[in-house]
Amino acid sequence: TYPARADDGYGLWLGPAADTATGAEIEVPRRSPTIDRAAAELRRSLPHLPAAVMLATSNASHLVMLDLDTRALGHEGYLIREVKIGNRPVILVTGNSDVAVLYGAFSLLRHVRAGESTAAINIASAPAIPLRLLNHWDNLDGSVERGYAGQSLWDWWTLPDFKDPRYDDYARANASIGINGTVLNNVNAKAESLTAPYLARAAALADVFRPWGIRVYLTARFSAPIELGGLKTADPRDPAVAAWWQAKADEIYRLIPDFGGFLVKANSEGQPGPRDYGASHADGANMLAAALRPHGGTVLWRAFVYADTDPTDRAKQAYSEFRPLDGKFADNVIVQVKNGPIDFQPREPVHPLFGAMPRTRLAAEFQITKEYLGFATHLAYLGPLFEEALDTQTGQARGQTVAATLGAISGVANIGRDRDWAGSTFNQANWYAFGRLAWDPKLSSQTIAREWSRQTFGNDAQVTDTVTAMMLRSREAVVDYTGPFGLAHLFGPDHHYGPGPWIADLKRPEWNPVYYHRADSDGIGFDRTASGSNAIGQYAPTIAARLARPETTPPQFLLWFHHLPWTYPMPGGETLWSAMVRRYDHGVAEVEAMRKQWATLKSRVDAERWAKTDAYLGIQAREARWWRDASLTYWMSLNHLPLPAGSPPPA
Ligand code: GCU
Repeated sequence: TYPARADDGYGLWLGPAADTATGAEIEVPRRSPTIDRAAAELRRSLPHLPAAVMLATSNASHLVMLDLDTRALGHEGYLIREVKIGNRPVILVTGNSDVAVLYGAFSLLRHVRAGESTAAINIASAPAIPLRLLNHWDNLDGSVERGYAGQSLWDWWTLPDFKDPRYDDYARANASIGINGTVLNNVNAKAESLTAPYLARAAALADVFRPWGIRVYLTARFSAPIELGGLKTADPRDPAVAAWWQAKADEIYRLIPDFGGFLVKANSEGQPGPRDYGASHADGANMLAAALRPHGGTVLWRAFVYADTDPTDRAKQAYSEFRPLDGKFADNVIVQVKNGPIDFQPREPVHPLFGAMPRTRLAAEFQITKEYLGFATHLAYLGPLFEEALDTQTGQARGQTVAATLGAISGVANIGRDRDWAGSTFNQANWYAFGRLAWDPKLSSQTIAREWSRQTFGNDAQVTDTVTAMMLRSREAVVDYTGPFGLAHLFGPDHHYGPGPWIADLKRPEWNPVYYHRADSDGIGFDRTASGSNAIGQYAPTIAARLARPETTPPQFLLWFHHLPWTYPMPGGETLWSAMVRRYDHGVAEVEAMRKQWATLKSRVDAERWAKTDAYLGIQAREARWWRDASLTYWMSLNHLPLPAGSPPPA
């Protein structure tokens, strides 16, 4: 680490710490660790306002006279309203718990920092999804799986004795966007994370996070009773196994009384699980749930089951295994489903399990870290990706969106020890957008982009407009240069960074990109209709009917669901091949456009953040070309078609 500078991105969207007291008048009738943090937050950056600000829970005696109805706010919702107390105007920030007041304080700050007036302010807001979690894929050796912002924040060597002040900064940033839980370690879990020394370290972090309303969760390796307990089996139906987990849960709650629970990856990519013993996912999840139940904990059981059991279509595995278990999970189990059926691609249709398990609590799992979208270097604002999935109609119940089916939402964190936390300034926006949408999935990704820009770069309108415009085109650009029209998983295996659509020689069929695009001299795309894998049969009938025919399939998913001739006529009349080439070119052109836009801000954005973003856009421009040229060259080696007139030849 090097010394802090005012503009190095450490302060995230909360900005650099003000050097002097701001002069805002803050009243706190009752103090608590959480309310104190809310007050400190306002003192540190709220400017002097015409009225004093009062931070108080709804049961405070001062508020009795006001007769506020706060029932609709639930436990975490807040109300910010100008009221009269005695004869004085006061900006009241209230809610039914201390953490609600904290959320309200951050909301007031966002409002003021965006340049909005507080006259007659009246904002009420409650979270739509009760559990809003980050999932860290952090390993105990300090590395981060698919993390691109340096080593893990958690320094297991110096915990629990030393609590790096950065842990507090982390929790503060999360609280500011409503995150209320964090899973500390990788889904590819090591049993050691459940041993006494690691539990003491997790407890130290939990102590730091608690006043910010954030609970700690841990991943649980299903075979831990064997590895740590010396048992011969981890069969969930064995009473000795259940007893081991019960004792482990009791031990954890003695150290962390508000422990959130376990996240489990079982029987996927080589991880142990109940299926090793002929038991079901429900048997496994319910056994862990019983251990946590007396303490109020939750099991997040992942539906990402990727095994070689059904090589015909990897996209079907989760639904095939989980849909039959609907209604069989205990009520403190949440089945955590990735946003799409394969694996965090730049674009996927939504997972068919959303809406299809009405008797099961579901979580949506998104990747904030950009494993398949250019790691930390490429600029890809994920707000539109999150929004697109959350707003999709499931077709299972009238008007039901994916967001409406959720009891929890998880984002695989993009946070590491880099000074700017996320590896780039614009990656911070993905962390921000995840939190804001988890709180309110009805917010638009455009609104969030503008809001983030103003919090991050200030209120210069030209900056806000330009940054927002760059953000809104960025994700689609990545889709276009990596795989338009629903092509997916064409990445170099293992690293998932550059192109590798030609790779065909790996042991298992679905490890090879050729499995996903199925291109040959005649055509391209994965037939998932009844004549192919029939994955469309996993969607609600109205949706499946639309996906059955290429003409009624949304173009962005065309080749995800259909195998089509290269000469297939697209809606505008051009051939599929020509349309594909145009999209690849468009992706490259969009990155050039972002570069130009950023260049116009050189004198309006601080030098350090400007220069890093500029350099990264240069990398992205080069690599967008690499993607386009490598992909087109490979497709042309199969289809022997010329480039349409007007396209630049691959380099
Ligand atoms: C992807 C990712 C892995 C990760 C897995 C998961 O396959 O590449 O690193 O372990 O997802 O979600 O479990």
